[in-house]
Amino acid sequence: MAKHLKDIQKPIAKEMEVFEEKFSIYMKSNVFLLDKIMAYIVKRKGKQIRPMFVFFVAKLCGGLNEKTYRGAALIELLHTATLVHDDVVDESNYRRGFFSINALWKNKIAVLVGDYLLSRGLLLSIDSEDFDLLKIVSHAVREMSEGELLQIEKARLLNIKEADYFTIIRQKTASLIASCCAAGAASVISDKEIIEKCRLLGEKVGIAFQIKDDLFDYGTDEIGKPLGIDIKEKKMTLPLIFALSNANTSDKSKIVNIIKNESHKADKVQFIIDFVKKSGGIEYTTQVMKKYLDEAFDILDSLEKNQYTQSLKDLIQFTIDRNK
Ligand code: IPE
Ligand code: IPE
Ligand code: MG
Ligand code: MG
Repeated sequence: MAKHLKDIQKPIAKEMEVFEEKFSIYMKSNVFLLDKIMAYIVKRKGKQIRPMFVFFVAKLCGGLNEKTYRGAALIELLHTATLVHDDVVDESNYRRGFFSINALWKNKIAVLVGDYLLSRGLLLSIDSEDFDLLKIVSHAVREMSEGELLQIEKARLLNIKEADYFTIIRQKTASLIASCCAAGAASVISDKEIIEKCRLLGEKVGIAFQIKDDLFDYGTDEIGKPLGIDIKEKKMTLPLIFALSNANTSDKSKIVNIIKNESHKADKVQFIIDFVKKSGGIEYTTQVMKKYLDEAFDILDSLEKNQYTQSLKDLIQFTIDRNK
């Protein structure tokens, strides 16, 4: 039975409380409009799995200190910035069960709000001279931009292959979760080899996490953001890539044609979803997702154990059991 996030969080509940207080302080602005939007964002917080990874990995490595808090805040600030920008890019009006920033304040403001959040994260690290954390996280930011752009390129050319898909999700999502684990470790230890192991653990988790996100798009459950939006955006994810690679020539050209010219029509999108389901695309994708999770567990097993090992296992499992 899948564990609830609240239960997984128990061993670090106090830390998460302190974190949330710090996080809202780091976002404060003297500009009235900006402060109003920051309050809106803080009130509609997400699952906060990234700070949880930072804290649990730090605890696994032997401790947790002020630097760990700053690392967690830096990452959650950047994550929030990329979500605000992502909803502009994806023209999505719905996030965390509420209106997105672009839906309420329009694109111009959303772009600037994303930049503001990014700069607050960077300044937090610079002011405290956390240059090692900044290095870990800056790599992720670069990769996220590259991943998002590669995704757009592939959506235009409609020639995405499975290998491209993995490059995209490793860059746009896994890199940040990888840096959570690396930053958590780097905040308490300096052993490069262990930090790298933790980074790789996070990368595996992050890939599984994005595959789960892509599977949501084929479901019907309320998850706090729009469904069926990927196909509409001509974003081909693993279930569809698999279905297409096994389709005959006429099905293939029919599907590609719909995506190219009719992806705005709900009945056509539904036709593709049904086609993917018939082709076993969901089962295949689920299997691949589990493979990445097993690889993450293997890395975790190779690290020294303590009372937080089980918490991390539960949190890793949560990334694919979650329902939003
Ligand atoms: C959403 O991440 C963006 C992806 C990488 C799919 P989360 O699902 O962790 O977002 P929040 O913070 O909980 O809303
Ligand atoms: C993930 O991209 C968000 C980023 C990594 C910036 P998606 O566009 O797939 O994520 P959701 O589904 O909108 O959260
Ligand atoms: Mg999106
Ligand atoms: Mg996107």
